[in-house]
Formats: sequence, C-alpha cells, structure tokens
Amino acid sequence: MTQQTLSGEDFSRRFRNALGMFATGITVVTTRTPAGEPIGLTVNSFNSVSLDPPLIVWSLANDLPSRPLFEGCEYYAINVLAEDQMELSQRFASRNGERFAGLEVEVGQGGVPLLKGCCARFVCRNTVRHDGGDHIVFISEVVDFDREERLPLLYFGGAYRRVAD
Ligand SMILES: Cc1cc2nc3c(=O)[nH]c(=O)nc-3n(C[C@H](O)[C@H](O)[C@H](O)COP(=O)(O)O)c2cc1C
Repeated sequence: MTQQTLSGEDFSRRFRNALGMFATGITVVTTRTPAGEPIGLTVNSFNSVSLDPPLIVWSLANDLPSRPLFEGCEYYAINVLAEDQMELSQRFASRNGERFAGLEVEVGQGGVPLLKGCCARFVCRNTVRHDGGDHIVFISEVVDFDREERLPLLYFGGAYRRVAD
C-alpha cells in the first residue's frame, strides 16, 4: 500500500474518492419536528449493527440544520429507496423546494412519515448517539419494519447505480 499523505489540499478529495469505492444503498431518514412538520434527508451512511437487540447505525453531519431536530426526536424512520426512486434521493438532498410536496406518506409509530414504494422501512427509537468527528452517530433500536420485493437504488463512486446480475 502506498503511504498516503493524511493532510494537504487534496486529502479530502482523495479520502472521499476512496470511501466512494464502498457501494451502498440509499435511504431517506424521516421524522417530525415538535410542531408536527415532516422532515427528512438523504443518507447513505446507514448500516446494520445487531440482530438481538435489533440495532442500526447512521451518521448525520453536525453542521446540518436538521441535526438538532433528529437529535431531539423520539422516533425516526429509515426508508430504503428502490431503484425507481432516484428523484426522491435528489429531492431529499437538495435545499431547493419543499421536500414532502406532493408526496403521499404513511404514518408509523411515534407519527414518523413513511415513504411509499420503498424496498424496506425501519422505524427506530432514538436511543444512543455518539460523537463521530464532524458527524453525530445514531445507534438506534428498530421497533417496527417492513419490506417489499423491489430492487434497491445503489450509490457508488459518487453516482447512482442499479443492481446488475
Ligand atoms: C447519496 C447521498 C448520501 C448522503 N448521505 C448522507 C449521510 O449519510 N449523512 C449526512 O449527514 N448527509 C448525507 N447526505 C447529504 C444530505 O442529504 C444533504 O446535506 C441534505 O441537504 C441535508 O438535509 P438538511 O439540509 O435538511 O439538514 C447525502 C447526500 C446524498 C446525495
């Protein structure tokens, strides 16, 4: 392995490029504000942690406006996007426009918004949070979930992909 310089101008770009070699699915994490407004953002840092108890993990950038709202919520949902939901991924990662406009949502435990047409949905109780550098790491208990026979939307090398046989 060639020794990498862990600082300098292009460190961040090289580090991101290397991390981008890890292919992931894409989720939209949703909850409600104390005033009842639905909020959500696109997240690919989601992963499984434990089967018993059922725990999942994801991380949220500290400087995002939604951070205090997710930190303080009791429940949130992880919506795993299907291959035909790229528009939702873009919409929930963009600052322009009302993210839930025109979206029909279902309601899960604790009032969390559940997106339709997803591969899987997990309702989580917001229990444990850790400092993760410039992110906050959520490790949460899954209290409800469902799954549909759909192919997932993938993210690899900074681009959207589809499952290939
Ligand atoms: C494919 C993809 C994956 C993302 N994953 C994450 C993530 O895991 N954590 C995070 O904090 N932001 C992630 N983002 C960025 C947020 O979706 C984006 O900054 C969003 O605008 C934040 O919402 P907010 O402005 O309401 O706080 C991702 C964006 C994309 C396109």
